Amino acid sequence: MKEWFQSWFDSPYYHILYKHRDESEAAQLIDNLLNFLNPAKGSDILDIACGKGRHSIYLAGKGFRVTGLDLSQQNILSCRKYENDNLEFYEHDMREIFRTNNYDVALNLFTSFGYFDREHDNLRALRSAALALKPGGYFVLDYFNPVKVSNSSAKSISKTIDGIDFSIVKETIDGRVNKFISFQDKGQTVHFKESVQLITEEKFRDYFEQTSLKVLKVFGDYNLNSYETDSPRLIFITQKVR
Ligand SMILES: C[S@@+](CC[C@H](N)C(=O)[O-])C[C@H]1O[C@@H](n2cnc3c(N)ncnc32)[C@H](O)[C@@H]1O
Repeated sequence: MKEWFQSWFDSPYYHILYKHRDESEAAQLIDNLLNFLNPAKGSDILDIACGKGRHSIYLAGKGFRVTGLDLSQQNILSCRKYENDNLEFYEHDMREIFRTNNYDVALNLFTSFGYFDREHDNLRALRSAALALKPGGYFVLDYFNPVKVSNSSAKSISKTIDGIDFSIVKETIDGRVNKFISFQDKGQTVHFKESVQLITEEKFRDYFEQTSLKVLKVFGDYNLNSYETDSPRLIFITQKVR
């Protein structure tokens, strides 16, 4: 039995439903992060859970040497079209060690965290990211704001995109936000699920303390304003200290 995050992100429907989250949003965040971190030209950057590679491709275009990793075979196949001397992609589970002491910056962007059921797996993913970094390297984690998400009430919405009528039921239960997504495809009803853990700022700080990553800053949006409880995002800038 596949986990929800193995099937949903690997399906074309995920990309149809979220197609409005685009390259310009990716460029805005990356430009602001580069401005803040100021990595040397040609630095090595790891994009963990890179999806279809929108951040990786943009970074490689700016002259960095970029590796994108993702669990989804379909996403990596799609990314491979963009590979060049500065840009490579691999199918990889973020819980597993990839490389050690290799990268100046590692990124985990757009709520690509909180999928696992076990705390141990959250820690494995953070430790693998830390291991991939050179000492002094930066790890950036961009997550939804769990306070804002948990305050929003359960709801049911319908959306038609590319001729597909999506029905989405959202609920917050047992410390997770769950979305049940259904639609018709070739006369059959298809169901997918998204289930993301509501990890608080304090909990993340606790996780980071159990790794070699030290929290330097916490931002609340893609313009890198400070984090507040009603901010849209929860963005950690951390640094490998040993
Ligand atoms: C919300 S998407 C974000 C993708 C990308 N960062 C972006 O902003 O476009 C989450 C991504 O995490 C990937 N993913 C889920 N579980 C993973 C795992 N265990 N290891 C690596 N990638 C994973 C999914 O395949 C999906 O592409």
